[in-house]
Amino acid sequence: MKSVRCGVIGVGNMGAYHARGLAEGRIARAMLTAVSDLDATQLTQFPNLPGFTDSRALIRSGLVDAVLVATPHYDHTTIGADALQNGLHVLVEKPLSVHTADCHRLLAARTNPQQVFAAMFNQRTDPYFQKIRALVRGGELGELRRLSWTITDWFRTDAYYASGGWRATWAGEGGGVLLNQATHNLDLWQWMFGMPARVRAVCGLGRYHPIEVEDDVTAIWEYANGATGVFTTTTGEAPGTNRLEVAGDRGRLVYENNLLRFTQTTGLVSDFRRQSPQHYARPAQTEQVFEFPNHGGQHAAVLQNFVDAILDGQALIAPAAEGIGAVELANAMLWSSLRNAPITLPLDATGFAHQLRQLCATSQFKKTTAHKQHDEVAPYLVKDQ
Ligand SMILES: NC(=O)c1ccc[n+]([C@@H]2O[C@H](COP(=O)([O-])OP(=O)(O)OC[C@H]3O[C@@H](n4cnc5c(N)ncnc54)[C@H](O)[C@@H]3O)[C@@H](O)[C@H]2O)c1
Repeated sequence: MKSVRCGVIGVGNMGAYHARGLAEGRIARAMLTAVSDLDATQLTQFPNLPGFTDSRALIRSGLVDAVLVATPHYDHTTIGADALQNGLHVLVEKPLSVHTADCHRLLAARTNPQQVFAAMFNQRTDPYFQKIRALVRGGELGELRRLSWTITDWFRTDAYYASGGWRATWAGEGGGVLLNQATHNLDLWQWMFGMPARVRAVCGLGRYHPIEVEDDVTAIWEYANGATGVFTTTTGEAPGTNRLEVAGDRGRLVYENNLLRFTQTTGLVSDFRRQSPQHYARPAQTEQVFEFPNHGGQHAAVLQNFVDAILDGQALIAPAAEGIGAVELANAMLWSSLRNAPITLPLDATGFAHQLRQLCATSQFKKTTAHKQHDEVAPYLVKDQ
């Protein structure tokens, strides 16, 4: 194969963005050969391509080697599994699925190791997060002690939530800010620092918007080594903050406002604490500031990497199997809040799926949907979130 024939399933806001990137030739050695959307009017954006209102017909058309699934979240599982079972390579939008039981089902559908299966975690291409990961995993910070990420700049208006019938309902989306916006941060967190052992959280359901799912979260996580993490997110605050602070036994990292500041102590803080005879002394330290010219290749880089993995066996930036971490954290925080109790990880996947089914079954929420307006999108190159 010299070039990968790609189909995009779900050509709404994000899927159309991916499809245009492919159609405009921005991804080397890949071409857009078919699109699918339940809504036939969406297909008219691509008048010169075969369009399918049923994803199953596209998957079985013989027109594609790979599909990018950009439908609402629940369908990631069913459509992704169908494509994998029919021998296609699959790139699924975030989140991998709505809950971990579905993640397991979707991951199990790939039985041929030659099939490339990736997830669209575009923020992994950001040099700031790559640098933080390298410093932490390289041991530059020593053993982790305390993590804190305030990521409250995911502001959304009520009009955003009204823009799609599936958005912000238990039955349509399966969650709110944790599954949709902050899923990027949850993926990055587990990719950079690993998974905690226990989670407790307070989630505000419709605290700011007329929705039934969470739009405000404050959580405390505990790691097996005693390290703690605080994760705060919302779509209701403006201007909002994006500040990540990591303290380890050899110093501290702070990432905020496009600057990464790394303060490293000359030895271990724990040794200094035990050995210094002085009461108020601090360990000596050096400071490095990292500033990168941009936030990496984002969506286009993940899609190019997917194509390169198919053609050349290149290692994936975001293998789908790693997408379960963000879903598990999102599910655990929501469940902790609903039960007013800590949740131990790994999560009881069946128990949470049952909880979500109950939320769907008992929902009294009436969704009003406004006319859909597509967001302005940048050219298919670098798009921030
Ligand atoms: N990686 C990112 O930065 C990013 C950004 C935005 C959205 N997303 C993800 O993309 C997905 C779609 O979000 P969106 O904002 O584009 O939503 P959207 O509502 O604008 O588009 C979804 C499209 O899927 C179509 N659709 C629904 N069910 C379908 C089915 N069974 N088969 C085919 N088409 C179907 C709808 O008609 C619609 O056109 C979500 O999972 C979201 O999390 C990712």
